[in-house]
Amino acid sequence: MSPSSAALRTVPDVTATDTQPRPRLELRNLHKRLGDTAAVNGIDLKVAPGESVVLLGPSGCGKTTTLRMVAGFLQPDGGEIHLDGRLASDASFTVPPEKRRLGMVFQTYAVWPHKSVAENVGYGLEVAGKKRADVDAEVAAMLELVQLGDLARRFPAELSGGQQQRVALARALATRPSLLLLDEPLSNLDAALRQEMRFELKALQKRIGITTLYVTHDQDEALVLADRVVVLNKGRIEQVGTPEEVYRTPSSRFVAGFIGTANLLEGTLSSIDRARGRVSVRLDAGDTAWANASAKWLASAVSGQRVTLLLRPEDVRFERPEHPDQEAGILASAGSASFLGSRYELQLDVAGTPLRVQSRTPGRFEDGRARLWFRPDSAWVVE
Ligand SMILES: Nc1ncnc2c1ncn2[C@@H]1O[C@H](COP(=O)(O)OP(=O)(O)OP(=O)(O)O)[C@@H](O)[C@H]1O
Ligand SMILES: [Mg+2]
Repeated sequence: MSPSSAALRTVPDVTATDTQPRPRLELRNLHKRLGDTAAVNGIDLKVAPGESVVLLGPSGCGKTTTLRMVAGFLQPDGGEIHLDGRLASDASFTVPPEKRRLGMVFQTYAVWPHKSVAENVGYGLEVAGKKRADVDAEVAAMLELVQLGDLARRFPAELSGGQQQRVALARALATRPSLLLLDEPLSNLDAALRQEMRFELKALQKRIGITTLYVTHDQDEALVLADRVVVLNKGRIEQVGTPEEVYRTPSSRFVAGFIGTANLLEGTLSSIDRARGRVSVRLDAGDTAWANASAKWLASAVSGQRVTLLLRPEDVRFERPEHPDQEAGILASAGSASFLGSRYELQLDVAGTPLRVQSRTPGRFEDGRARLWFRPDSAWVVE
């Protein structure tokens, strides 16, 4: 920090992040052990007002455990949870769930079958002691929001799965929560409906600007819904970033492999350009290629060391580039090709390692081999 900006400070000992609005939710070094598993093992996270944060990770990585602690159903063993700047949980203190101003939609937390759609949505408002007329108006507004205005009198058994989840969503939003928690809310829906609901949810989240913490193990869902994705692995955060950051510049092999399809190419580091944040790598199976790398990795990189490059399937091309000297070539052996309508999906082989390619053409092979190309900025050094 420069002396002039230090002089502008009015509150002693604040950091640059304090110029941002107070987080709606903050997790500090959160820990929870379940049985003999460290289910949540030191999570730090801030969620800003209006932000949509998605916890993404494989089964058992601690997503639901984290959400249940935020909801107040489960007490942490260590660390703190703050809601709107106030302590909500630590190892010896808990604000009860109903006092946290949360809305919740879970995969299994279904709507009440014996109540109509309107009664389901209005329940929380009635419990809160609102007047009949206010409840009715609010219910009508919420049902309009989730496009169920016509179905207010129906019962859940008379609705589709997607409509039932929209009722659950309207119910969660009706009490005007400060934070919306969703745990795999779409996973019981069929594939087509799940995709449609993703975009609906995103549009709704943006329209009403509600702060959202969303749990899923579905990477596509995470990329669509998140302002920031938190990638979890074994109770710890692997990476936090925008969908573009976690997809294009994954901080580890785990993240590279978990989000999207990862082609990994081995090579030897030949030169380092720290100023431009990139390196050149002599590939075992082809030319020397430029690849981008994180500043942290570059700081300790030495030429001659072994390097693994990440190359996404859509970045590999068959067409010989206009300026072949600016792109890297790799030699691949023919494998299988599947036509998927918008593209071909090819499974090739590069010196014994698989290479997945998405291409508008099935490619041209001579003697079972083809030279493929990729641009310098499409490769990324993975750790
Ligand atoms: N009641 C329990 N007793 C013992 N271990 C538990 C209990 N509940 C969860 N665990 C373990 O804690 C870890 C985290 O579980 P959690 O439910 O948070 O995972 P998740 O990321 O939500 O997974 P999924 O995607 O399958 O829902 C897992 O290893 C799980 O087996
Ligand atoms: Mg879970």
